[in-house]
Amino acid sequence: VSDVQTAERIVRRFAGRTNLLIAGRPAHVRRSSDPAFAPVAEALERLLRALGAVMDRGGAAPGTVQYAFDLLPAGADPADVPVLLDGAPLPDRGDAAGRIAFAGAHMPVSRRIAAGLDLRGLRVGVAMVLEPKTAQLALLLRGAGAQVAVYAHPDETDADVAAALRETGMPVDADAALSGDAERRAALSFLRRGFDVLIDDGSHLIRLAHEADPSVMESWIGANEETTSGLTPLRAMERAGRLRTAVLAVNDAQAKTRFDNRYGTGQSCVFAIADLLDEVGMSVRDQPALVIGYGPVGEGVAAQLAALGAEVRIAETDPVRALVAVHDGFPVGPALTAGRGALVVSATGAPGTVTAELRRAARIVAVAGGVPGEVDLAGVADAMRPLPRRDGSPSRHVERLADEDTVVIDRGGGVNITGAEGNPIEIMDLSFAVQLAALDHLVRSRPAPGVHALPPEIDEVVTRAALAARGIEIDSPADSGADRAAEWRSPRYASSRSAERRPGPTEGSV
Ligand SMILES: NC(=O)c1ccc[n+]([C@@H]2O[C@H](COP(=O)([O-])OP(=O)(O)OC[C@H]3O[C@@H](n4cnc5c(N)ncnc54)[C@H](O)[C@@H]3O)[C@@H](O)[C@H]2O)c1
Repeated sequence: VSDVQTAERIVRRFAGRTNLLIAGRPAHVRRSSDPAFAPVAEALERLLRALGAVMDRGGAAPGTVQYAFDLLPAGADPADVPVLLDGAPLPDRGDAAGRIAFAGAHMPVSRRIAAGLDLRGLRVGVAMVLEPKTAQLALLLRGAGAQVAVYAHPDETDADVAAALRETGMPVDADAALSGDAERRAALSFLRRGFDVLIDDGSHLIRLAHEADPSVMESWIGANEETTSGLTPLRAMERAGRLRTAVLAVNDAQAKTRFDNRYGTGQSCVFAIADLLDEVGMSVRDQPALVIGYGPVGEGVAAQLAALGAEVRIAETDPVRALVAVHDGFPVGPALTAGRGALVVSATGAPGTVTAELRRAARIVAVAGGVPGEVDLAGVADAMRPLPRRDGSPSRHVERLADEDTVVIDRGGGVNITGAEGNPIEIMDLSFAVQLAALDHLVRSRPAPGVHALPPEIDEVVTRAALAARGIEIDSPADSGADRAAEWRSPRYASSRSAERRPGPTEGSV
């Protein structure tokens, strides 16, 4: 194992044990006087910088992670470097209740927004991937006075978290064992609980309500939609005159997309891929990787893959985004050419992105973000063989297509959900702060049916709260916006302005 691989494992171990974000978090590599640890310490510092950590030699900023080589005894394996968070050894998050509590302790922005809400009497349905951060969102809503019920699809249910949330007395319609018709029945019976507001992710339940039982929407003030791939069909429904409820486009808030889609999905998907490949003796390092789609998710995935040492290329159908990828320093080309022999990661949210031909040409296939069918596996799903893990047991996540030699991760499911714990906590803290502020706005403004953008004040309130929570001060503009708007004339010609003779209305015209 090389020094950079060891460094990568140390960082992934931190992320896996905490579900926290590297980018933007202060980090301090504490050097040892023992020269044996120096190469790994140096590789670790380089890697942390590449991943966007803020290197902080003082190590005192709130939330700092310290990699303490100075605490390693002589002769120890540098991979075992003690990692400290806020000066204390990394906590053992323990069981589901412990993971929910740990998430809550790292969600100051959502907490702050929730503290300002009065949702007494409001019935709120939360239909999202059920893991510790979502549990916190549900608890914060209830804390603000709402009556909350939670739903999650079987593939998106952490059964332990569901049980822990039920323990608090919250109704939770989530059963990881359901399949087929039972899935649909469970979703419908959740909708029939009756809500004023629905918080949806992927717009699966908003669409099911329209398709199967529009009467459930009669009580709705509206819904919040969390993600890009959920908004696309809702906008199509609106154009076709079929959308019967107001939907706030939470995804499109800057405080959501620019952080969740970009940094959150970037880290969580790439680390999940690296963790799962590492278990079967493979790596993303030093090999070609093709990212398909250069939206916010593709940007984040490409940046993190590059930081982990993959040779990243991009395929995009949108010319503006393709050109941005070029100027970010990535080779851009058609997927079928660039994906040959590569780790192919789809970041499009579009079904059929990885065609059967591309799948056969690729070395490894995975999906970041994800909608059903993003990888075409028609006719080959039965021909998958699990790869053996280091301990000899079969991997539940990494399989090889018998006839094609391609390795497929999690059968083309969104890998940060299927193979990891979803987005990092401080990212969901921002996204859920936006959700909470959006819900308040929805209830106060009661917009007509249609997809609505959030007011920009929500971005300002949420990002200012996040800066405050991180102990970061910023400047105020020198003059107020009102002053600038009052003096609209160009200062360039100010000196001659007073001497100017005003032409009459017809003078000067040709
Ligand atoms: N799992 C998560 O935590 C998470 C978080 C955020 C977003 N998402 C999901 O990730 C996906 C991507 O999100 P986004 O915000 O970047 O979306 P986006 O729509 O902004 O970007 C997708 C890009 O893919 C390109 N594209 C589409 N089809 C293509 C093809 N066949 N070949 C090449 N390029 C193609 C589009 O032109 C677009 O630029 C969505 O499904 C979104 O819902 C998941």
